[in-house]
Amino acid sequence: MTTQEYEKNIKRVIITEEEIAAAIKEAGKKIDAMYDGHPILLVSVLKGAFVFMADICRAVTVPCEIGFMCAKSYYNGTESAGVVKITMDLDRDNKDYHVIIVEDIVDTGRTLNDLCRMLCARNPRSLRVITLLDKPSRRIVDFKPDLSLFTIPDYFVIGYGLDCAEYYRNLPYIAEYNECKDCDKK
Ligand code: IMP
Repeated sequence: MTTQEYEKNIKRVIITEEEIAAAIKEAGKKIDAMYDGHPILLVSVLKGAFVFMADICRAVTVPCEIGFMCAKSYYNGTESAGVVKITMDLDRDNKDYHVIIVEDIVDTGRTLNDLCRMLCARNPRSLRVITLLDKPSRRIVDFKPDLSLFTIPDYFVIGYGLDCAEYYRNLPYIAEYNECKDCDKK
């Protein structure tokens, strides 16, 4: 793919860097208020939430540990595979922790539904979910995040950690992806 084709797939910016930064600052304050000085374990769902995790963990002031899991629900392209696979688990037991799952986007809700069930079975002190983006119109399973920074329509979005075929994660903003057949190839 040429740079020109790569850039052609970025249809338009829908959430700017500044808007993301402001929403994260607010979310950090809400988390601080919710836990009131009690330690938390932030669990990021790789790969899409890695940028959000880096920013949200610096927006909270309560004592904070971080952990990573990898869940895969998309194959190359923009269509869900319909199957959620945990490909990397936490490196510690989350028993007795106040756990917050940090997710990039809730789409069908399958990934978080499965993850919550899995982490709940390990007896955390509490379990909440924070997501940067929410696409409620795409929901297949009944799932509601505890904190959602932006609700968006049914666009396929890229940037700020979110990818299309592993590209665009490094964009500092959220953009709508331009599904153009000619420039869709890697
Ligand atoms: P769900 O299980 O259908 O809710 O999907 C969650 C995962 O699908 C997210 O963590 C993303 O990795 C991926 N995903 C869903 N919508 C988008 C999108 O618009 N752009 C990029 N990835 C997406």
